[in-house]
Amino acid sequence: MNKFVIIAVLLSVSFILVYCNPAKKAAKATVKSTYANDVSSLMMSNCSPCHIPANGGKKKPYDSYTNVKADIDEIIKRIGMNPGEKGFMPMRRTTRLSDSVIAVFKKWKEDGMVE
Ligand code: HEC
Repeated sequence: MNKFVIIAVLLSVSFILVYCNPAKKAAKATVKSTYANDVSSLMMSNCSPCHIPANGGKKKPYDSYTNVKADIDEIIKRIGMNPGEKGFMPMRRTTRLSDSVIAVFKKWKEDGMVE
């Protein structure tokens, strides 16, 4: 074998180790959700303006970690309802939030509601 072949083999092996490492994928799958990374932006985009005082919301403010954490059970209950049902959120929408968005709220609760 000449030097170039050896170098090429070493490079491909290190490439595979760096990018296809199953341990790395597993670590990513177990990352805990946090309010700052996962929940806050969904709240801002889906529950505004009503629950976001900065946008003129007059309903219970959900722009803070403390308030969202305190009401997480009620929030999960209401976004899990069907449009038209009494208490359904986001109010006045004709469709539920997508299952993947609802799952983010549930996972955050399961993960222990980290800020
Ligand atoms: C169009 C305005 C509007 C939007 C958008 C909206 N809400 Fe509401 N929300 C209301 C109103 C009005 C009430 C009070 C009436 C009631 O309790 O059903 C309320 C009440 C609530 C309550 C009960 C609060 C309490 O006093 O215990 C929760 C929880 C809630 N909303 C969650 C959400 C979530 C989560 C979203 C976004 C996914 C959202 N809402 C989007 C208008 C809105």
